Formats: sequence, structure tokens, C-alpha cells
Amino acid sequence: MSEVVTQHPPFGSVFADVMAIAWYRDGRWGSAEVVPLAPLPLHPAAHVLHYASECFEGFKAYRWPDGQIHLFRMDRHLERFRQSAASLVLPVPEADWVGGMVRSLIQRCQATVPEAPGALYLRPTLIGTTANIGAAASPSTEACLIVLASPVWDYFSGGAKPLKIWVEERATRCASHLGSTKTGGNYAAALGPTMAARRAHQVDQVLFCPGGEVQETGAANFLLIREGHILTRSLDSSFLHGVTRDSLLTMAGDLGYRVEERVFTVDEMMDWIKTGEAALSGTAAVLAGVGSLLRAGQAFTVADGQIGVHTQRLRSALVDIQQGRSPDRHGWLQTV
Ligand code: PLP
Ligand code: COI
Repeated sequence: MSEVVTQHPPFGSVFADVMAIAWYRDGRWGSAEVVPLAPLPLHPAAHVLHYASECFEGFKAYRWPDGQIHLFRMDRHLERFRQSAASLVLPVPEADWVGGMVRSLIQRCQATVPEAPGALYLRPTLIGTTANIGAAASPSTEACLIVLASPVWDYFSGGAKPLKIWVEERATRCASHLGSTKTGGNYAAALGPTMAARRAHQVDQVLFCPGGEVQETGAANFLLIREGHILTRSLDSSFLHGVTRDSLLTMAGDLGYRVEERVFTVDEMMDWIKTGEAALSGTAAVLAGVGSLLRAGQAFTVADGQIGVHTQRLRSALVDIQQGRSPDRHGWLQTV
């Protein structure tokens, strides 16, 4: 049987030709508008450009076969958005109001929502815009909120290829108190170690395990999976509390897996992967199987090196709900 290969643009590289935008000035949000996608008028002294007052979210809308568009767990993402904003001392917008911006945007760019297996990726982004380079130790009093929409397909360019991961036991992904804040600075902090590992070891991603404790990769959570059992790090401020992670753990419980959330070490992970599976979870990554881990320069195959059966089963179970093939028992989907 020959494989059908379809060429899609790389994740996040194309956009709807409209965006939603609102400005915060004089202690209040102005009205939200949907406008043509265009560069922002930003003062060169804007707080975000100097002191990184920025946070964002990423979630998806799916076009079902009947043409209806459904958002997946937008409420959870917007709650996290508000927590990120609060932790960066940015104005915290009301969730319903941002949700309204998202809906208005989708209504204006409905034609760009791809059919499955694609989705429309929504990217609310909040930046501090106060023009004051003296404000290193004080918050931005002005802000801008934009929502971008981007039709997406696979995040990892290899599609369904098992990933090769570098186990990083020294460098941290970000400051330990900001791990659960979805801020651009965390991605900037992870970039150096990620590029170094890519250059030196040709890996796809880096798994951050400072002090020998497994945390997450630069843009996804990390799960160990085997027959009837899932192990992942328990929630703390060191890593992002993924909505996909939460959804997969809930579904795994429904399917009879024992879900264990606790701190675990690299040594324990190396033992697990002799027979068990490993995978990355996230809105962009969905559930991506890991084929090998590189530790201190030595390669270790994860089980048989292929994407594991449990990883495939859980990924399909999640995607089936998102794309309307399985019932939404937890009320995770909202029509637009
Ligand atoms: N961890 C990091 C660092 C991420 O960037 C993401 C992606 O959003 C995740 C985890 C997964 O989060 P979610 O499942 O909410 O998309
Ligand atoms: C997401 O999965 O939504 C992410 O934010 C990953 C992203 C950095 C591409």
C-alpha cells in the first residue's frame, strides 16, 4: 500500500488575514476589535521589548465533518492565561471577554479552519506596552492583547516519526517559579540548550531534568506509559500544567490505566523505557511518541524504538473526541 503524503505549511507559519486586538490604557480595557492582520504600532521603549512582560496561550478549534467548528477546552486555557498574566503583573483580562474575542475572530475567518487532521490554532498574546525603559522593576501599566489564528497540521515535521530526545540533567528550562507561567521568556531560556543539543546530537527536543528530576521538554509535557499505568510529574511551579496532559490523564483513568503523578528521576525513567513507552503531550504535539533518549551522549532505545501501542491508543482516543468521532463525556468542546 503506498502512503499518501500531503504537504502542509510548517506549524504556525501561516495566519488568517484577520486578528483580534484590544488595548489597556488608563486602568481599563478598550473595546476589542477584529482587524486586518498587520504590524502593531509599538513604541521602541515598550516594556515587553526590554523586560519581557509577555504571556500567551495556544489552543485549537476543529472543523467537524458537518462543517461545525468546535473549541477544545478554551476555558482551561484562558484560566491559565489569566494566571500567567497575574504572575507577570500584567492586567488580567476577564476570561469571557477574551473568549468573545476568540469567537469573533473565528467567525470572521471561518474559511481558514482546516478539515481534520488540521485545526485552527488560536494564540491569545498579552504584552506590556508602557514606554519606559526605567521600569525594570515595575510593571507595565499599559498593555495590548491580540489573538492570532493559524491553520495548523503536525507540529513535528516528521509527522508520526518517533522522536529522539536529549536528556538534559544540568540546564533548567526556566526560572523555577515561572515554569507554570506561559511566557515567551521561558522559550527564550530553553532555546540555547535546545539548539546546542540539536547541533551536537541531532535530537528533536530536550527533556529538562535539572538535578536528575524529570520535568518536561521545551514545548510539551512528558509522560511514561505502559500497559495499565501512566507516570508523569506531579504539578508544581517548575513546569507548565498542560491542558492536554490533564485531558490524557482523565481519559487514561476512564480507560482503566492507573495514573500516577509524582516526582521521578532520570534513573527511574531509564529503567521504565527498557520495556515501557514515553511520549510528549501538548496542544501542538498532541501525543508524540519518543523512540530514543540520549543521556550523557549514550543512546537508549525506548522499548522497541517505535511509537508504542498505548501512546497510539491514547492519542487516537483524544483526537477522536476533538474531531467529533467519540462522545465528549467531559464537556471539553464548545461550538463556535
Ligand atoms: N509545556 C510547555 C513548555 C508547552 O509550551 C506546552 C504547550 O503549550 C505544554 C507543556 C503543553 O500544554 P498544553 O497541553 O496546555 O498545550
Ligand atoms: C502549544 O502546544 O500550544 C505550544 O504552545 C507549543 C508552542 C510553543 C508551539
